[in-house]
Order: sequence, then C-alpha cells, then structure tokens
Amino acid sequence: MRIDELDTPCLLLDLDRVNKNIATMMGLLQGTGVSLRPHFKTPKCPAVAGLQLNAGAIGITVAKLGEAEVLADAGLGPILMANQVVGTKKIDRLMALLSRGVDIATAVESDFNIDELVAGMKRSGQRAAAVIEVDSGMRRCGSATPAETVRLARRLVDEGIDYRGIMGYEGHMYGQAEEAARTELINTALATVNEHVEALAEAGLAPAIVSTSGTASVLIASKTPGVTELQAGTYVFNDLHTEPFIAGLFENALTLLVTVISVKERYAVGDAGLKSLSNDTGQSFSVDGSVKVARLSEEHCTLTGDSIANLKPGQRIEVVPSHGDTTLNMHDVYYVRRGDDIIDTWPIAAARKFR
Ligand SMILES: Cc1ncc(COP(=O)(O)O)c(C=O)c1O
Repeated sequence: MRIDELDTPCLLLDLDRVNKNIATMMGLLQGTGVSLRPHFKTPKCPAVAGLQLNAGAIGITVAKLGEAEVLADAGLGPILMANQVVGTKKIDRLMALLSRGVDIATAVESDFNIDELVAGMKRSGQRAAAVIEVDSGMRRCGSATPAETVRLARRLVDEGIDYRGIMGYEGHMYGQAEEAARTELINTALATVNEHVEALAEAGLAPAIVSTSGTASVLIASKTPGVTELQAGTYVFNDLHTEPFIAGLFENALTLLVTVISVKERYAVGDAGLKSLSNDTGQSFSVDGSVKVARLSEEHCTLTGDSIANLKPGQRIEVVPSHGDTTLNMHDVYYVRRGDDIIDTWPIAAARKFR
C-alpha cells in the first residue's frame, strides 16, 4: 500500500528513523556501564518495545498497569513500573501479573504503598518486587529524604518484599529552556538521587537498580556515577517539544497525515482536531516547517504560514506533533512506512491504557 491510499487523519511511523533513534541511544550508552529500560508510555506498541529489547534494552519501564498487561501479553519484559500502584483492585492486578510469572517491580514511596503490597501478597501468595521512588526535585511522587528512603528500604526487606533499588525522574528539566541552567538542574537532581544511594549503602542496603532520566537528560545521566539505568521514552519517536532539548540527536519518526479540507485567503483548514492531535505542549508544524497548526478545534485544524497559498483542498500534508505521546494515545494503529510505502500496520495496543 502507498501513503496516498490511506484515509486521514492517521499516524505514520518511519521505521528507519525509529531504528536509527534506537541505535543512536544504544551507541550513546555503549561503554558507559549504564543500561536502558525505555519507557513504554511513548510507543505503547509491543512491536516497538521488541525492537528496543533486541537492540539491547534490559527491560521496559511503564507508568500504568494496563501498559504492563499489554507487555506481559506480548511476552516482553522485565518490567519496571515507575509509578505507585494504589488501591486493592490495582494491587490484585499486579499480583495477577506476578502469578503469571511476569518479572515486574513497582515503585513505592510510602508506608501506605508497602501496607497495600503486604496485604496483596497475603491475598495472592505472590512475592512483590519494589524500588523506592525518590523525589529528585520534580515535586511529584517520591521519598523526600535519604533517611526516609532508608527506612522504607528496611521495611521492604523486613516485609519480605524483593527490594530492588530506587528510581528518580528529573522531569522538571523540561521547564528550564536555558541550557546551562537545565544542566545544573539535572546535575542537582542526580546528586539528590545519589544522596539517597549513599545513605542506603551506609545502611547496608545498597540499591541494585538506580533508575533515572528522560530523553533530555540521558547525555548527563549516562556519565553520572551511581546511575545504573535510564528510563527515557520520547527518544524513540522524538517530537517538536523535545527537539530543542536534544538538538538534533534524535529524528522525528512520527507524523500525522492530514487532509486539507478548505483553503481560504489567509489560512487553510485540515481534517485533524483535538480528537486526533494534541496541543498540550505547543503547536505542531508540517515536516518542512512551512505550515503551522495554529489552532485546533475538535475535528478541524487551522493551518497558517507562507506556503498556505500553494495548498489545495484534498491535498495531504504531514504534521510532526508537538507532543507525540498525547497524540498517539488517541490512535489505534501506526502505519509503518518506508518512504511512501506502507510496509506494515502496528496496533498501538496500550493506547488509552490509563488505568
Ligand atoms: C517517571 C518517568 N520516567 C521517564 C520518563 C521519560 O521521559 P522522556 O519522555 O523525556 O523520555 C517519564 C516521562 O513522562 C516519566 O514520567
């Protein structure tokens, strides 16, 4: 099939670019002693996770149990759940994964989490595995002090939970546009994680896993002693929001194919709106940058830019999403492309698996 034959709006995934991004990341980590456990929240597609694992990733990171279940069904892992699992229903889903023989460790940050895991283990007869999430400055989840982290680690061991280590995610780096200040912020966050590592080591609880980082911090984190693995996700597709933070390191592999449905004097209108393209991190642009998605309503986008005069109704344009993750979450398949040929269709099996 050719791209011309596809109905729109739909997502195109450039397989050569995906493989190149995967190879770039593995090349960057080569010889550093730091491993990669890529975050599944970006591709949400077992076929992509399979490529990452084949290239040397040591496992997959997830944010939600629904994502872990999709991976388990595809036989992929081991899985690190970089988030708290809260509530009996979810704890029992975690135990069900363990009873299937899935290697999954979950993050914990409090006695509440540990109490729930202990109760779940009693109900199921399974043994949970956990890492302690530490707050390295993002002010989201995580243990606030090294002393608290040591106390929680000791409790994990005492309760018979498989204590694997710690994680911290310095996602607040994306709020700092200026490079020098961002570098300082990332270094401070990683130093905070290392304070927790040192306290654990002194208490005889040295963490086997020290997992950190997103796409914009991999260059620094891979050279930071103490860090054992990275949980970057966006690098595999890249997007316009992430691009300025990594300056050409990764390529845009994901585009949205849009049909122009109306052309006016100063603008044109496309057939993708908020129900197929997100704008939470800013505006999207056509691949060559000459057309801007200036406004989105539910099922329309307003297109502006100098090349608008050349557009005709019925014409197709490819848009690079500002935020790939929130865009792809609204779709069900990737049309996998090589040039203008569609060589495969990959289900986005974990789309909208937000539970
Ligand atoms: C806990 C956690 N780890 C890793 C990542 C991956 O970051 P990035 O998308 O920058 O690669 C995220 C992103 O949301 C995250 O929340």
